[in-house]
Amino acid sequence: MAFPEAWLNELMSKNDIASVISEYVQLTPKGGRLWGHCPFHVDKTPSFSVTPDKQLFHCFSCKAGGSVIQFIMQVENLSYIDAIRHLAQRAGMDMPNEIDDRRLMEQKRKRERIYEANREAALFFCRALYSNEGANARRYLEKRGVNFETAKKFGLGYSPEGYDTLFNYLTSKGFSREILIDAGLAVAGHKDPSKTFDFFRGRLMFPVISASGKVIAFGGRTMGNDEPKYINTGDTPVYNKRENIYAINLLKGKKLDDVIMVEGYMDVISLHQRGIDNAVASLGTALTTQQARLIKRYAPKVYYAYDGDEAGQKAMIRGIDILRASDIEARVIIIPDEHDPDEFIKQYGPDSFLSLKDASITGIRFKLERIAKLNGTDTPDGREKFAREACALLSKLDPVERDRYIPLVAERSGLSKDTVKEQCGLSKKAVTGEEQTAARYVGYKRPKTDSERLKAEKKLLSCIMASADYGNEIGKMKGFSLMLFSSPHLRAFCARLLTAYSAKGKADIPVMMAELEKDAADEVSGAYAGISDLVSPIASAEEIIFSLRKQNMKRELEELSAEIKELTSPEEKAEALNKYKAKYAEFQKLSAERQN
Ligand code: UTP
Ligand code: MN
Repeated sequence: MAFPEAWLNELMSKNDIASVISEYVQLTPKGGRLWGHCPFHVDKTPSFSVTPDKQLFHCFSCKAGGSVIQFIMQVENLSYIDAIRHLAQRAGMDMPNEIDDRRLMEQKRKRERIYEANREAALFFCRALYSNEGANARRYLEKRGVNFETAKKFGLGYSPEGYDTLFNYLTSKGFSREILIDAGLAVAGHKDPSKTFDFFRGRLMFPVISASGKVIAFGGRTMGNDEPKYINTGDTPVYNKRENIYAINLLKGKKLDDVIMVEGYMDVISLHQRGIDNAVASLGTALTTQQARLIKRYAPKVYYAYDGDEAGQKAMIRGIDILRASDIEARVIIIPDEHDPDEFIKQYGPDSFLSLKDASITGIRFKLERIAKLNGTDTPDGREKFAREACALLSKLDPVERDRYIPLVAERSGLSKDTVKEQCGLSKKAVTGEEQTAARYVGYKRPKTDSERLKAEKKLLSCIMASADYGNEIGKMKGFSLMLFSSPHLRAFCARLLTAYSAKGKADIPVMMAELEKDAADEVSGAYAGISDLVSPIASAEEIIFSLRKQNMKRELEELSAEIKELTSPEEKAEALNKYKAKYAEFQKLSAERQN
């Protein structure tokens, strides 16, 4: 919740921190600060300090801190708004009529406008499909076996050939160029940025519609053989492809046993037309956690029916793990002969597709089959590798689920069930040669504790707070990045601070701090208080940046090494190990840099 900055400024200057706090705590000046007994904990030595020129309080013992607003929130036990109200009353100021949340309101208005533009565009594309210029597109749909009713159900359309037909139409309806570009409907010219082009030209159009029925994006398919086959709306303020599912809008209001997850627009459409109306598509290759969460609102089970090619298989393997982690049952429909679901159902009909669904296998079984295929179980060597990897996978299941797959692994590997069981128990601890290599690389000391890390991060922020000049210089230092802050509070504050420095050449830190929640205020005020202890902010910042980078890299290496241990497929393992080696080299380079 944001108040107008000028108003907040006035509020803070009329509620000088020293005079407000003196009403609660007896303060004595010493060394440029005012000291007293902390009101927030039992404080025998006065460790509570007030720094009037920073408009800051900070307790060196319990680490509470912040501006006069946080002080009042904590001491009077008030919410942020009520603390502001309290201070406004104290200073004899009126509250601003309305809470001015201008930026948020503006973002919301912009999103609404983008939804409207998308809706108008979808209608425009629809009309074009059924007009003269859409004749080709209609013929294309016919050739692909899509009937009129289906085209209407999915809101299919056609984007005309001209380079700015849609743009002209929508601007004439009052949409600004900026909104159309933000919506992903128009793009500024590459050579001449003052020119504007339609993003979709001469393509068959598939609107992507959200669960709540809003048009959020489009896919456009070429009707010829040119590349790319599809172009899609990129990320916009209303669309992120990782969070949406194609055709989710058509599931609305249905109570489903399961959904069928396919790869493409055409697969969804083709299945729906033939009565399989619980088909949806993830519109990328691999499923994300957000998408899984969305699906879970509709059904507890997903049948994967991806293409039989390598990319499709890999995407399913990842997706199965994600579904399982989201507590969704995962099954796989195997479509024969490298068909995609569209081709299959067109050729063999919906009953055959439903038979394939009946013959589907569990996600785990699918993973086991793939491990068998990749290792080849015709040779003793392959069977042994298969057994090891399969057991490593089974060892992660709970015993009840695991039991189901023991016979399969025994049969394929030629081992006895008892041996398989035993190996599943061992697999948890089993260490492969690659993992040993990884472990050797990670042979350094444990990372420092988080509180030491937090101290370093606070000190880095102190250096940046020390002055705009320091802040700007540090912001440009080699290796500096906001991601050096593991604390989200410090990171967010630093981002705002650097923005203020570059926009205004200065920052009003007390006012910026005034808006923080307690946890953030405690951390940020700790950093603010630390300024007075700085001897050389630039040298300190360099030192800390180096050490934080090194710590970050170490953590990444550790995470990667843990990931390598989890991986079961040899190719993914090799890939991860290569990544590990590259990262390790980078790490060594960084260490060497500092010694020179
Ligand atoms: P496919 O190549 O399997 O396309 O890509 P498709 O849906 O079967 O389409 P048809 O049958 O050839 O017309 C699957 C999905 O991957 C995305 C699209 O979402 C597509 O539906 N894709 C594919 C792209 O975004 N761009 C491309 O160039 C290709
Ligand atoms: Mn296809």
